[in-house]
Amino acid sequence: MLKGNVYNVTDFEKRFERIEAVIFESSSTASKAVAQEIAKLIQSKEKLGEKCILGLATGSTPKALYAELVRLHKEEGLSFTNVITFNLDEYYPMEPDSVNSYVRFMKELLFDHVDILPENCHIPDGTLPKDEIFKYCNGYEKKIEDLGGIDLQILGIGGNGHIGFNESGSLQNSKTRLVALDHITRVAASNDFSGLANTPRTAITLGVKKIMEATRVVLMAWGEGKSNIIREAVEGDITNQVPASFLQEHENAVFIIDKAASSKLTRINSPWLVEKIAWTDQLVRKAVLGLALSLNKPVLMLTDADYIENGMSDLLADSGPAYDINIYIFNKLQHTITGWPGGKPKADDTHRPERATPEKKRVLIFSPHPDDDIISMGGTFRRLHNQGHEVHVAYQTSGNIAVADDEALRFASFVVITTISSKLEVLKPGEFMMPP
Ligand code: F6R
Repeated sequence: MLKGNVYNVTDFEKRFERIEAVIFESSSTASKAVAQEIAKLIQSKEKLGEKCILGLATGSTPKALYAELVRLHKEEGLSFTNVITFNLDEYYPMEPDSVNSYVRFMKELLFDHVDILPENCHIPDGTLPKDEIFKYCNGYEKKIEDLGGIDLQILGIGGNGHIGFNESGSLQNSKTRLVALDHITRVAASNDFSGLANTPRTAITLGVKKIMEATRVVLMAWGEGKSNIIREAVEGDITNQVPASFLQEHENAVFIIDKAASSKLTRINSPWLVEKIAWTDQLVRKAVLGLALSLNKPVLMLTDADYIENGMSDLLADSGPAYDINIYIFNKLQHTITGWPGGKPKADDTHRPERATPEKKRVLIFSPHPDDDIISMGGTFRRLHNQGHEVHVAYQTSGNIAVADDEALRFASFVVITTISSKLEVLKPGEFMMPP
């Protein structure tokens, strides 16, 4: 069994981290590394004539991992005949052949493409009558125990820190059971079910206890959307509000994450707190603004003591006193503020972002919902128009969140009517029309 520091992380980097976290350039290289770890485990068990018990997850995160395992089987002869799998969870109720069932997911992504024996694949049964679930869950755990426990458990992580479907509030010794899904989890799944109303409210999940009993746990996470919860789980306190934080107490758990998912870890977000860095202008600006925000002070009010007490004394020694650094950053910030968002005509204002003789521009403003453009940048919008640029807005609503379908359709039909009644002329730049 591979143990501990398989992926070479230095202690220095781990100063703020309570779980081993390994950052990969991309999710695909990370998935390949995890596939290698699994392949080695399967082969080493095979050599010993033993079964390899894998705990598996579904969702978007492990898709590339399963693709790589399939490739290893097809191209490099990795055999799964000694593998027994237990999936973490299944929606309830759920028919196995439904498009959204995890049975179908696992077959389509892994089981149908490797030589695993069908009787060795276990996924919680979403078709049982409710009163049989308790007994069934005990049986699911018993099967795992009889095989000597899970050798390697693959996990994803939910936006709320759930592992399996052990939502916030789950206990560290929770058993395999029927659970109610969190609103956040249901919203995340609602696209697959064509809307929240069709998304299951309950699921069967392996309990935290069985996950913690696995010999090795590999949690994977990709994308910036996971970065906040990764920081909480890795650097925060152990709390049942973030069930993934329980893994801090597991002696052989690792988080495999891509760059984007790692972006809020201290070693990435504030590297000066972890090691001596070469201060670039960009890092100084980031550090000073971060300091001002965390202390809730204006930049110009930061003191020498603030720098020293917050891990920035080397910056102070190089470029201090605080007063000088503060002014330098303040001036830089000032220069990002402009009254000419599209550029200033006939001006040689080289220290500002605008060019001296800007072309007339076509501007496209993306706005999540109708009104966000006005609320968040109405002044800039108007100024761009007044300065003669051609301004368009693209509203990014699909009509299903925050803006109801009928509202979105009303605006769409209004645009069509306006276009037709003006003999297919497109609205002139900056013309604002109100709905009838
Ligand atoms: C799925 C599971 C869940 C997911 C988690 C992340 O079997 O147990 O905990 O791992 O919700 O989902 P994705 O990977 O879709 O972001």
